[in-house]
Amino acid sequence: MKNILVTGGAGFIGSHLVRLLVNKYPKYHIVNMDVLTYAGNLENLKDIQDKVNYTFVKCDICDLEKVKQVFKDYQIDSVIHLAAESHVDRSIKDPFSFAQTNIMGTLSLLQAAKFEWQGDFKDKLFYHVSTDEVYGSLGEDGYFLETTAYDPHSPYSASKASSDHFVRAFHDTYGFPTVISNCSNNYGSFQFPEKLIPLFINNICLNKPLPVYGKGENVRDWLFVNDHARAIDVIFHKGRLGETYNIGGFNEWKNIDLIKVMIKTVDRLLGREEGVSEKLITYVTDRAGHDVRYAIDSTKLKNELGWEPSLQFEEGIEKTVKWYLENKDWMENITSGDYQKYYKEMYNVN
Ligand code: NAD
Ligand code: DAU
Repeated sequence: MKNILVTGGAGFIGSHLVRLLVNKYPKYHIVNMDVLTYAGNLENLKDIQDKVNYTFVKCDICDLEKVKQVFKDYQIDSVIHLAAESHVDRSIKDPFSFAQTNIMGTLSLLQAAKFEWQGDFKDKLFYHVSTDEVYGSLGEDGYFLETTAYDPHSPYSASKASSDHFVRAFHDTYGFPTVISNCSNNYGSFQFPEKLIPLFINNICLNKPLPVYGKGENVRDWLFVNDHARAIDVIFHKGRLGETYNIGGFNEWKNIDLIKVMIKTVDRLLGREEGVSEKLITYVTDRAGHDVRYAIDSTKLKNELGWEPSLQFEEGIEKTVKWYLENKDWMENITSGDYQKYYKEMYNVN
């Protein structure tokens, strides 16, 4: 029996992880703590919301007293921490809220766990979910290893790097039971359409311009979100305390090539002439401080814990496009209201 606190479980990756844990481990109690920002959506968890081993608690991770109370109420023995402000472009406009949630929020969770566990760390775990962006940017060659020096460039990645440092500091200072994973770009269902893949699928469907930053030559390493959730499951159960594990699928794509694959797939599935939507490609001003290339080496995770991605990219992107086409209501619900304002401000459109 475990009482696992998952933070940010109403978001993109968190909802996939919560679903996996609730269905796979009926004897665990999964407590999903989420404050429901614009990115948190309980619709993402409709299929499991009535399960007896699942509880949702609306709570800000920065609210130390309330977090402590949740630890008490549910006798939390493990934390998987995903709650964060997660979009680089928003961090460029509003770095403060990223420092608040990602740094102070993580510290608040660490303090609550340390206080409630009172030095008895047997069978306890604090698992911090982080990103490959903390390692900075690569040139044409090479990969991020667990030993790569931190070199964050955006306010988002700087705040995640700082949170990683706090987690390690708690391990080294208090003997706190921690593990960290750093993952590459995720894609799949339920991703908020501020991120490249859902935003572009939606715009292609609506025949709207596709705002490609710079020359579209930046490279990202894409992993299907369910494979990230599977990796977290493996690391949670088998990872060594104090360790870091990189998660990635050795699946690098130049943005413009990935965009053309999305265009072809959407056009085909909508019965349009394949590639006709390439006319929507619009090159726009580059993202400030835009990291050139990310590429994760996840050999340690494979060799030590036996995890490998389950899905080839071609299959993953087909599934993903189909999901967005079949779930138009989900997309319409979150793109009405505030999203319109965000979109206009971010992309300078009327
Ligand atoms: P997301 O933006 O989709 O979801 C974040 C969730 O956190 C939302 O449900 C939001 O309501 C919640 N949240 C935000 N502030 C909170 C607060 N103060 N208290 C409680 N809940 C709060 O993010 P995501 O893409 O699912 O990313 C989840 C985690 O994984 C983040 O820590 C992110 O840094 C990391 N990560 C993401 C990716 C990716 O490609 N998306 C890759 C690697 C790592
Ligand atoms: O690498 C892991 C990270 O991946 C996570 O930690 C972040 O939470 C997640 O948002 C993601 O960050 P990126 O900045 O790489 O993802 P995004 O989808 O915002 O952008 C992917 C690439 O596409 C990037 O090179 C910028 C480009 N882009 C993005 C948008 C939104 C465009 O060209 N146009 C756009 O409109």
